[in-house]
Amino acid sequence: MLRLIFLGTLLITASACARPHADGAELVVAKGCIACHGTSGKATAPSYPNLDGQWERYLRLQLMAYRSGERQNGIMNGMAATLTDEEIRALAAYYGR
Ligand code: HEC
Repeated sequence: MLRLIFLGTLLITASACARPHADGAELVVAKGCIACHGTSGKATAPSYPNLDGQWERYLRLQLMAYRSGERQNGIMNGMAATLTDEEIRALAAYYGR
């Protein structure tokens, strides 16, 4: 229980603003998404897809498909493997519309 409280405090302290702890703007940095998809979803190189302007629902379903292995890609299967449902929701909402 104490450990949970400690973790909670850490999460709250770690998030710069008072939004819920799965914060898209922080997750894209923490998870490394920005290296390829940029901070706004505009890809950093032609070999990576742009995510900006895409439907939130589409992005969410793709991340779930990468996580389950239903959609296969050497990079994205690894990136999505450890994402929680909450993180996927936040990431899709951040990059999508
Ligand atoms: C090393 C580069 C790299 C990183 C880091 C990366 N991606 Fe990707 N991402 C790709 C590539 C390449 C594809 C296209 C894969 C394919 O063809 O299925 C892709 C595809 C996607 C798609 C599907 C786009 C579509 O139009 O179907 C989503 C959503 C996505 N990435 C989100 C993320 C998120 C969120 C993160 C961070 C957790 C992330 N990516 C990290 C390279 C990267």
